[in-house]
Amino acid sequence: MSFLDHMSRGRRHAPPKASAMVEALRGLGYSTSTAIADIIDNSISACASTVSVNFHWKGENSRISILDDGCGMNEEELDHAMRLGDVNPLDARDENDLGRFGLGLKTASFSQCRRLTVASMRNNAAHCLRWDLDVLSKSEGDGWYMLEGAEAGSEQFIEDIENKNNGTIVLWEKLDRIITGSFSVENFLDLIDVVERHLSMVFHRFLENRSRPFSILINGQRLKPWDPFLTGNPSKPWHSPVSPAPTMPGVEVECHVLPHKDMLSVRDFEEAQGPEGWTAQQGFYVYRNKRLLLAGSWLGLGSGRAWIKDEAHRLARIRIDIPNSVDSEWKIDIRKSRARPPVNLRPWLGQLAEATRMRARNAFAYRGRVQRSYTGEEIVQAWKPEKGKHGVRYRIDHKHPSVNAVLDQAGHLRAQIEAMLRVLEETVPVQKIWLDTAEEKDTPRTGFDKVPVDEVRAVLLQMYKYFVFRNQLSPVDAKVKLKITEPFHNYHQLIDQLPDDLDEDIS
Ligand SMILES: Nc1ncnc2c1ncn2[C@@H]1O[C@H](COP(=O)(O)OP(=O)(O)OP(=O)(O)O)[C@@H](O)[C@H]1O
Ligand SMILES: [Mg+2]
Repeated sequence: MSFLDHMSRGRRHAPPKASAMVEALRGLGYSTSTAIADIIDNSISACASTVSVNFHWKGENSRISILDDGCGMNEEELDHAMRLGDVNPLDARDENDLGRFGLGLKTASFSQCRRLTVASMRNNAAHCLRWDLDVLSKSEGDGWYMLEGAEAGSEQFIEDIENKNNGTIVLWEKLDRIITGSFSVENFLDLIDVVERHLSMVFHRFLENRSRPFSILINGQRLKPWDPFLTGNPSKPWHSPVSPAPTMPGVEVECHVLPHKDMLSVRDFEEAQGPEGWTAQQGFYVYRNKRLLLAGSWLGLGSGRAWIKDEAHRLARIRIDIPNSVDSEWKIDIRKSRARPPVNLRPWLGQLAEATRMRARNAFAYRGRVQRSYTGEEIVQAWKPEKGKHGVRYRIDHKHPSVNAVLDQAGHLRAQIEAMLRVLEETVPVQKIWLDTAEEKDTPRTGFDKVPVDEVRAVLLQMYKYFVFRNQLSPVDAKVKLKITEPFHNYHQLIDQLPDDLDEDIS
């Protein structure tokens, strides 16, 4: 007889041990910023119009509180809110609810502190409950003992709730995951800066919303929204119309290419880069119910290999909006920091991203300058990439007017000049340009960029004379031709100023 025949079929009650369970949940991977954002989600779901986040430095006894003027909770609701695993994540949610798992309040708080006190006011009646991990670790049995009221001596830290008819305050004390080792007041101030930048990004759509005013105050200072897409900025080279997802109602995408550095003031350029900087902030921005989950990721998409974030694509940012009804398809996590597009949407997203990346690459490479002529005609370029089976080579286009002009008049020097052009083609400092671009985080300057205007005019005049005297073009036609010839195509004003009655000796 085998073990399988003897196997017992009874059942056992197997509750987790509170202290061990909660300690394990502390490691979900929240940062202080993502944890506070999770608490603010609850305030927004509770229709708050103001959330005050207060950081109070007192060494090891420092504390953080988050106060809102939302609908608050009655005694029973607060009791449920404080329990872990009280709600089934599979339950349908109100379409404006930012929650899903019934855990955020607890897991976000425990990731930062050992004592969580929540006081809530509903119709002028206040209730207060508390978890203390040190008490939990000493409890008997399975140990799930919640405490009523604030810790003796901490009552004043939740007293702001008394000034509200409705609202909730979440208080974090014993910040053992923040105040570690030699953590100083400077570190605390730096942390406040980091949190500010994160919240102004994550909640920017709420902070910008005029039809339902919402504000976040950090130690009394009103937070400004940070819009990743520079909406309304006239220097933006391109943005797409909104495209609804083909197979998932409620999901929509809008692609943006941001202005090149040269098109923005130093201050605007700094501000537009975002909390993590230009390169890190490229890619998709996934919003769930207008709350940002993911800020800048290529979502594992790519043609062949997954795209990585690089300098050339740093001007590409793509907004995706999803409703909370598709949480499981998008694999939303408890921290609201992860989202994975479902397989059937990946090709569609890949195509939109590819088109945006191409445009962003051009804006980066040409420093935001338009590469089409005013007539729509193709610009005559001096260099042409030539794709062969061994890779790309860069060739000088002999038809470019400035090259053509020399070859045309070269006479017995023609072979030598052609050899020189060949040498230049074979010695393009590709590696140097590549390294400089990576180091400077920008392409080197070309196209007379930042060159004194007299220098440009002198070269321009030579070309103009060639067109008029050698090619017998009328001044009007010569000017039209210059306007579609690289690099003069960006200097229409200088071209228009060229004299119509040209003297061969003019220089
Ligand atoms: N500031 C608040 N105002 C009113 N009710 C709140 C507040 N914070 C929490 N609640 C209530 O407590 C419940 C539990 O909150 P918790 O953050 O733990 O889970 P959730 O928001 O439901 O889901 P998730 O784990 O995805 O955040 C909420 O569903 C809400 O009913
Ligand atoms: Mg929540």
